[in-house]
Amino acid sequence: MEYQELLRAFCFYSLFIIFSQQSQLTYAGKHLCARDEAFYLLQFKQELRVVSNSEYCDNKGRTKNLSWNVTGDCCEWDGVTCDGFTGHVIGLDLSSSYLWGTIHANSSLKKLGHLQRLDLAFNKLGEFPLGNNISELSSLTHLNLSHSGKTLMHIPQVLSNLSKLVSLDLSWQFDIFQFGQTTFTSLLQDLTNLEVLLLDNVYAPFELPKNLSSSLRYLNLQGTGIFGNLSESQIFHLPNLQVLMLGDNPLTGTLPNFNWSFSGSILELDFSNTDIFGKVPDSIGNLHSLLHLNIRYCNLSVSIPESIGNLTAIRELRLPRNSFTGNVLSTISKLNKLVRLDLSFNQFGGSIPESTGNLTAIRELDLSANSFTGNIPSTIQKLNKLSYLFLSSNNFEGSIPDIFGNFSELDALAFESNNFTGPFPDSIATLTRLKLLELQNNSLTGPLPSNISGFQELQTLDLSFNYFTGATPPWLFHLPSLFSLYIQHNQLTGKLPNELKSNYVEYSDIDLSYNKLQGEIPDWMFSTSMGRLDLSHNFLTGFEKQVWHSRSLQYLNLENNFLQGTLHQSFCDMINLVFLILAQNNFSGSIPDCLGNSNSFISILDLRMNSFHGEIPRFLPIGLQYLGLYGNQFRGQVPRSLVNCTSLEALDLGNNKLNDTFPIWLEKLPNLQVLILKSNLFHGSIGDLESEFPFPELRIFELSCNGFTGTLSSNIFKSFRGMMDVDEEKIGITRATNETRTKQNNAIFS
Ligand SMILES: *[C@@H]1O[C@H](CO)[C@@H](O)[C@H](O)[C@H]1NC(C)=O
Ligand SMILES: *[C@@H]1O[C@H](CO)[C@@H](O)[C@H](O)[C@H]1NC(C)=O
Ligand SMILES: *[C@@H]1O[C@H](CO)[C@@H](O)[C@H](O)[C@H]1NC(C)=O
Ligand SMILES: *[C@@H]1O[C@H](CO)[C@@H](O)[C@H](O)[C@H]1NC(C)=O
Ligand SMILES: *[C@@H]1O[C@H](CO)[C@@H](O)[C@H](O)[C@H]1NC(C)=O
Repeated sequence: MEYQELLRAFCFYSLFIIFSQQSQLTYAGKHLCARDEAFYLLQFKQELRVVSNSEYCDNKGRTKNLSWNVTGDCCEWDGVTCDGFTGHVIGLDLSSSYLWGTIHANSSLKKLGHLQRLDLAFNKLGEFPLGNNISELSSLTHLNLSHSGKTLMHIPQVLSNLSKLVSLDLSWQFDIFQFGQTTFTSLLQDLTNLEVLLLDNVYAPFELPKNLSSSLRYLNLQGTGIFGNLSESQIFHLPNLQVLMLGDNPLTGTLPNFNWSFSGSILELDFSNTDIFGKVPDSIGNLHSLLHLNIRYCNLSVSIPESIGNLTAIRELRLPRNSFTGNVLSTISKLNKLVRLDLSFNQFGGSIPESTGNLTAIRELDLSANSFTGNIPSTIQKLNKLSYLFLSSNNFEGSIPDIFGNFSELDALAFESNNFTGPFPDSIATLTRLKLLELQNNSLTGPLPSNISGFQELQTLDLSFNYFTGATPPWLFHLPSLFSLYIQHNQLTGKLPNELKSNYVEYSDIDLSYNKLQGEIPDWMFSTSMGRLDLSHNFLTGFEKQVWHSRSLQYLNLENNFLQGTLHQSFCDMINLVFLILAQNNFSGSIPDCLGNSNSFISILDLRMNSFHGEIPRFLPIGLQYLGLYGNQFRGQVPRSLVNCTSLEALDLGNNKLNDTFPIWLEKLPNLQVLILKSNLFHGSIGDLESEFPFPELRIFELSCNGFTGTLSSNIFKSFRGMMDVDEEKIGITRATNETRTKQNNAIFS
């Protein structure tokens, strides 16, 4: 290319001038970079393109070589390191430089023969075919290609030539296809000086090696697909081993006995998400220096040995999602350097001992989903560096101690699904950084605090399924960062505020069902961000405005209130509605025709027990799964378009004034489980079924109190396959809606 030729000429020319100047400076005692190396660097700069940082997840990078130019000493260039004595370029760090392109076999990079450290991590490089003559880079001791893009399959063999390598990082290279057993073995045999090897998230399934280079200090094989039996490997016995990460692999076997002579120097072990089983051996206590132990998602069981109390250096202990039992907390409470403790999803029992207050360095504590019991000791107060505290799904009881006043770092607090009693701990409401608060499914009582000084960053607040009483405090609706508010199933009273302090209500999910709320539904609840609104089972009597304009709303449940009036035309603006439940109110008027608009997404439409009248719209949403019109005053016919609603599972038209013949044509609906026509003005004979398997899923069929005549052929029942194979799980549509409906349906059907 002409442009490149020009460029090359330019480089040669300018370099010549500069290096003539530099050679004088060299006399001043400072070594400047060799002129040929500066030239190769500039050439290498031309080989790769710089892409916009928008293609990268993090844009923290900086294109280091962008500033390289013919002026100045290349040893001063960003990312370049020279040997202080010889002036040769020995280090090149172009990590996170937004580089894109291919380093070809003839790349100038390879001419930097003194290079010891090469870091190209976090770029988008196409290939790395340094070919068979990689020996030119044989001085390399550190090579980092982590996250650098595709790398060619030959890379392992090529690397075998780099016998001085001490550190090799190939992690997160998705396209090393043939990194198989032999290449891996030979790589490790040839690289006898290797101390650090990272292959994590390079898919290269090979059998866990029995023998490895004894110089290895840091080995990360997470998510490589290696397999084999952990107990049989000698991998642990490497004399210099400090870090061993084998997680996310199909490894089997048990944990080894940690009783070899070097076990005391191990710093980090990770076996998470493997198939290892059995118990944690007593010898775990020999790992005096251990800082991190991660055994998430394995099949380990039984109790943890007391000797774990010997791991006095440990900072991080993660054992979630195994089947551990026993009472381990008093032993673990000795490990006072712990920063992260995760015991969640096991069967640990016992109570939290007072001594847990010794874990004063702890930042993340997760005991959720176990069988812990007892009260929360107030010594927990000392753990005020906590940012996560999860005690959910245990059998804790007593009141939640009101000790959170100086937990200024707390981000998430989850105490849900326990047997906590007593009041809402006021000090929680002073937490300024809290993003998640989950206290649901307990037996908390009393009022919510009337004023709060924290919660500025709260995003999710769940107080549902408790016994909170008193007025709904206005702050609940003024939280500046909140998305989700769940207060359902309490005994809160009062009105919902119409006026909002801030103009930017971004709540997208509100559930206040099963309380004792009164008054009107404020207009802001139909704001543009709202996705799910459940105000069912309250004492609400109306709307601030009759206009329902939320285009984002997908789920609207106003069931069982005292709401009345007609459905305003603006109802049709709620174009994303999927669930619409207005049952058990006093709505009247007719249903707007827009409901049947072919682009309506409504699948659950429950208008039962109101005073709607007129005809059922001729067209209904095609994706309808449930249509409940029971207990209104609908007249006319069953709309024939229902035959197209092939997802329909339940059709409840009972207790209206429908005047039609039996809708025999519904026999073709493949998913219909419930058909209720009772107490209408249906008439005539049932007619002859046409299909071989009519009503294939039907389980509930109610025709009583109509004017049907003729005989009901027993064939009709014989053919209802659905009724013969009653699968409790499958009954009900109810699954698709909510438990409330189950109860109601049962009541209606019984
Ligand atoms: C050329 O390099 C010098 C120092 O190495 C730097 O200050 C200058 O900004 C660079 N010029 C360009 C155009 O990048
Ligand atoms: C280097 O090799 C590539 C691909 O083989 C080729 O396109 C390019 O022209 C070569 N560059 C030089 C300077 O020879
Ligand atoms: C490789 O580079 C990445 C990104 O700079 C870094 O996080 C990683 O620690 C490096 N690997 C080694 C072994 O130093
Ligand atoms: C293990 O490797 C060492 C050299 O790293 C070698 O001397 C020894 O024979 C090997 N052992 C086996 C069983 O392969
Ligand atoms: C390790 O723990 C056990 C049981 O707690 C104890 O008997 C033993 O002395 C401890 N060993 C060391 C080296 O601390």
